[in-house]
Amino acid sequence: MSLQLGDTAPDFTAETTEGQIQFHQWLGDSWGVLFSHPKNFTPVCTTELGYTAKLKPEFDRRGVKVIGISVDAIDNHDKWADDIKETQGHALNFPLIADHDRKVANLYGMIHPNASDTMTVRSVFVIGPDKKVKLTLTYPAATGRNFDEILRVIDSLQLTAKHQVATPVNWANGDDVIIVPSVSDEDAKKKFPQGWKALRPYLRLVEQPKG
Ligand code: BEZ
Repeated sequence: MSLQLGDTAPDFTAETTEGQIQFHQWLGDSWGVLFSHPKNFTPVCTTELGYTAKLKPEFDRRGVKVIGISVDAIDNHDKWADDIKETQGHALNFPLIADHDRKVANLYGMIHPNASDTMTVRSVFVIGPDKKVKLTLTYPAATGRNFDEILRVIDSLQLTAKHQVATPVNWANGDDVIIVPSVSDEDAKKKFPQGWKALRPYLRLVEQPKG
């Protein structure tokens, strides 16, 4: 069965462009994003990796470590890294796993044989500091992912892990949030003394909690 939300992200050792890592140890207390690439020297992946390198300061600011994976050998990764820097204007600044034996890809269910039995799909796993899977995304090889959306989701995951709120449709950091239904009005008065707007008894909007 595929990995589901709340499952422990499988640990592994792997060779990467930044040396050998043990995944859980490498994550430490950070959040993590593990994302797969169908194959090296493919155009969509080249753009995704360059853009993620550009966004690295945004991931750092949120305490998130990013790591890519492709089912190719390490020497192949180094040559591809040169191409990413030259064509995207951003050099790889996070590790890329060389998963030539597909050990990690199989562990995380990144190969979907009915799509391709040689390449991975575009998987994303967001992992919390407790090593649990908080979010999964699966895109087909021909569709590049939106890494701004991944940052937006991380903002929501980090906020909702800390406060008893949920984020509404198309929410962006700073927008009002929803008080979760399990919080009674009585408890909400203590948690949100500034008050809230109740559009329905079950739909209570409140200013985004700080911190
Ligand atoms: C790409 O990464 O560009 C790609 C990979 C497989 C199929 C189509 C595009």
